[in-house]
Amino acid sequence: MKSSPQKIVCIGAGYVGGPTMSVIADRCPEIEVTVVDLNAERIAAWNSDQLPVYEPGLDAVVRRARGRNLFFIGQAEGAKKLAEADLVFISVNTPTKTEGEGAGKASDLRYVESCAQFISDHARGHTIVVEKSTMPVRAADTIKRILGLNPHGGTFDVLSNPEFLAEGTAIRDLESPDRVLIGGERPEPVEVLAAVYRQWVPAERIITTGLWSAELAKLAANAFLAQRVSSINALSALCEVTGAQVDEVAKVVGSDSRIGPKFLKASVGFGGSCFKKDILSLVYLCEFHGVPEAAVYWQQVIDLNEWQKRRFADKIIRDLGAKRGKVAVLGLAFKKDTNDFRESAALDICRQLLAAGLKVATYDPQVEFADFCQVAGISQGIRSAGSINDALTDASAVAVLTEWEEFRTIDWSSMSLGLGACIYDGRNILDQYAIRRAGLRFHAIGGWAAN
Ligand code: NAD
Ligand code: UGA
Repeated sequence: MKSSPQKIVCIGAGYVGGPTMSVIADRCPEIEVTVVDLNAERIAAWNSDQLPVYEPGLDAVVRRARGRNLFFIGQAEGAKKLAEADLVFISVNTPTKTEGEGAGKASDLRYVESCAQFISDHARGHTIVVEKSTMPVRAADTIKRILGLNPHGGTFDVLSNPEFLAEGTAIRDLESPDRVLIGGERPEPVEVLAAVYRQWVPAERIITTGLWSAELAKLAANAFLAQRVSSINALSALCEVTGAQVDEVAKVVGSDSRIGPKFLKASVGFGGSCFKKDILSLVYLCEFHGVPEAAVYWQQVIDLNEWQKRRFADKIIRDLGAKRGKVAVLGLAFKKDTNDFRESAALDICRQLLAAGLKVATYDPQVEFADFCQVAGISQGIRSAGSINDALTDASAVAVLTEWEEFRTIDWSSMSLGLGACIYDGRNILDQYAIRRAGLRFHAIGGWAAN
């Protein structure tokens, strides 16, 4: 086994594979990094000026490394690259299963399994295979079994190196991570991967564990983060009926150094491609391994989140009553600074508003409206506004669902909203006094807004 890899291949050029490999290539110019994807359109976009992923800072990183030691290629060319690779990352999607055993909860490993098969078919010599995708604990057993079938007498080590980046801050998170986690069964391959990260990550931030702990720790970290959001959102409902204000409560709770201030921002509900699917995976693992009490505990984090989205839309529908009218939805992305709307609160809330017979005008600076409607399964009664102003004109209600900076600075007094319109702040980012001065009504998640 080589002590430092010369050639890395990553299978999967998505939100994780693309940015992660770009940073590795940028920081390790002596390593050739090739990213392979079966989606030809995505590969073409990675090779263009219009990258398929919107992330602050990503363009500059890609521009520095692409064509030098960073390459994005299709599946057919990928087979050749696999034969030369020392390290192969699997960074494909691991969605929730929709059929078969565990449907609705367990992770669907079919894409991971097809990667393992692809590697098994083409790898030569010794290859370190790295799980970058989020996997259920003991997924490496499945990968090892498939790799064992390889026809060329190749040998393999499997490592778990889950990714902790958050969208919108991916480049910052990759360049200066809180920690890098590497789980393995033998010290040698773990050291090979650790040496790559040590080129820019301080050694004390690289945590090494057993394979199974690494796989489970990733699910656990996401579950803890989501649990904090559900905890503060549960309190937000109580704040609204008691006159307490959730940001004030969060500040007090978070100033305890044992608790800390992060991830205590009440919202219209967490979204994103991973929190829900990873907690469902954890729930399934608890059930499968005979600990149903733990499964019920984690399931509640999701149930509370679904309720939070529902009760926000319910309030708008109830307040509008027979008046009906148009709702302006500001923000379709699941958080600011990303074009990703997977599992975003906007999907459920738009569906619910439309089902109640309301008209919806949306505005988001990054999300593709047509893609959003297709995923949401909606087409009638909803339109994309070209600007905030356009969305707000004649609206009876405004629902702020994403915390984009440009929503904070809306000049409410210059907007032509409908008479008696109400602004529903699903992120607690708006200035309630400016809104009220403009003659508008105001409602914020968790009571009056603090700023
Ligand atoms: P994604 O859907 O954006 O990208 C996955 C890519 O893999 C797609 O482009 C798809 O075409 C490709 N792919 C699937 N099967 C393939 C195959 N057999 N061969 C070649 N390409 C194949 O997914 P993502 O958001 O990048 O997430 C990937 C993994 O990383 C998931 O397990 C996710 O849980 C985890 N993760 C995601 C984030 C995030 O912020 N999105 C953060 C941490 C971890
Ligand atoms: C999350 C984790 O933060 C990453 O560490 C992890 O790698 C990633 O999931 C993953 O595995 O995919 P991400 O989903 O990109 O990252 O974004 P977050 O910043 O965690 O936000 C998730 C959701 O929670 C967003 O909808 C956000 O608006 C919401 N949120 C977050 C709140 O409502 N309140 C908060 O205080 C924080």
